[in-house]
Amino acid sequence: MTDTDTSTEQDYDLVVLGAGSGGYACALRAAQLGLSVVLVEKGKVGGTCLHVGCIPTKALLHAAEVADSARESEQFGVNATFEGIDMGGVNKYKDGVVSRLFKGLTGLVKGRGITVVEGEGRLAGPRTVEVNGRRLVGRHVVLATGSYSKSLPGLEVDGHRILTSEHALTLDRVPASVIVLGGGVIGCEFASVWRSFGADVTIIEALPRLVAAEDEAVSTAVERAFRKRKIALRTGAPFESVETTDAGVRLTVQGGDTIEAEVLLVAVGRGPTTAGLGYEEQGVAMERGFVLTDERLRTNVDGVYAVGDIVPGLQLAHRGFQQGIFVAEEIAGLAPTPIDEAGIPRVTYSDPEIASVGMTETAARSTYGDAVQTLTYDLGGNGKSQILRTQGFVKLVRRTDGPVVGVHVVGARAGELIGEAQLIYNWEAHPEDVAPLVHAHPTQNEALGEAHLALAGKPLHAHS
Ligand code: NAI
Repeated sequence: MTDTDTSTEQDYDLVVLGAGSGGYACALRAAQLGLSVVLVEKGKVGGTCLHVGCIPTKALLHAAEVADSARESEQFGVNATFEGIDMGGVNKYKDGVVSRLFKGLTGLVKGRGITVVEGEGRLAGPRTVEVNGRRLVGRHVVLATGSYSKSLPGLEVDGHRILTSEHALTLDRVPASVIVLGGGVIGCEFASVWRSFGADVTIIEALPRLVAAEDEAVSTAVERAFRKRKIALRTGAPFESVETTDAGVRLTVQGGDTIEAEVLLVAVGRGPTTAGLGYEEQGVAMERGFVLTDERLRTNVDGVYAVGDIVPGLQLAHRGFQQGIFVAEEIAGLAPTPIDEAGIPRVTYSDPEIASVGMTETAARSTYGDAVQTLTYDLGGNGKSQILRTQGFVKLVRRTDGPVVGVHVVGARAGELIGEAQLIYNWEAHPEDVAPLVHAHPTQNEALGEAHLALAGKPLHAHS
């Protein structure tokens, strides 16, 4: 229910500040466990993920896949012609997905008896959130205020020529040319969408490789695939300056080279939304704008917890969601097991997709030294991948004679494989445990199965 009560002070078991994935998951689970909950949100329940993040972006990526399927239909013997992108239609489809999910979520929140207060809240006392002049007092407070798109010094986002991902999601046209600044997750996803929609795309990345948090073999494969798609790549090219021109933007990278395009997308990371919200004033320990917590997500202030993108670590919706559930159960006295951050799966939904869990080979070698084995299984040997005409691989990293500590997949629909991969990782399975499992045929899961067979010393196909 949306609260219209105007009395100035009210008590709850739980006051949640921010209704994104972390905040709403916490509120829903807490209400389910019988706690009285108030959820404070300045925008819409659902937050970044639902309204300007994961969901709308993945809808664009799906539209991009449909466009590519139309373009490439001939190689499957299907006669179709690609006529072009109707951004109005794409946006209608995307917004329809978001609004259906939003309706479902608001219904759920209402059904659980959670009070929603609309407005910008701030921490005004150790267990008090102030919003619209009202004081909401909780036995516990959960800070879940999320993150925002960062920019760089000398780079002013104007929402017209120089965009963040939020602006990019509402464009009513396909730009003729785009510079994507930042070859991380957002950069690769938008580069992929725009290329499929027909734009000329250039990615500018300061580090020597794209998706630098991933295994090096993954970056190499994605770079190769992007080049094949005629996405221009400038790695090892830090941003220097930008100016707007009559036709768009002119960006200069360090060293002096310039690149011109109609629009520039700034995708250089997301920062925690914590400034001016009263956290520091109330003595909450912070570092570089992030809220510090222990593994039970408690801040240093008694009764105050934090979840999601404001807590240092992976800025992923499913992490915040799980943290929200953890905190609700903690407050309800269920003593949940702390979340293993290393076991959180990661997916980048570009074409090709990237999915991974656990350690890269480099990270494993720096932790375990030489006691590491790897195996790369090429999707060329997988029937379903051939049917889909996708290229890529499954790379496994294991401790010698020990469990699998990293799984890395590149290829179409790689994200759908991460469910099994994360069970293998989180259950500390040895390849020998996975090898006898029967995988349905023909699926790409078989590639995961065969990679484990090979690593267990029973290869069916050639591998490296
Ligand atoms: P990111 O940290 O993944 O990538 C930012 C990139 O910008 C880095 O590669 C960095 O080296 C580069 N960069 C920074 N300063 C630069 C400069 N001066 N010149 C050139 N390059 C520069 O951050 P991104 O892509 O903005 O995403 C933000 C967060 O959102 C990430 O934590 C990501 O995990 C999350 N996200 C997750 C998605 C998913 O799970 N599919 C989708 C989109 C975002």
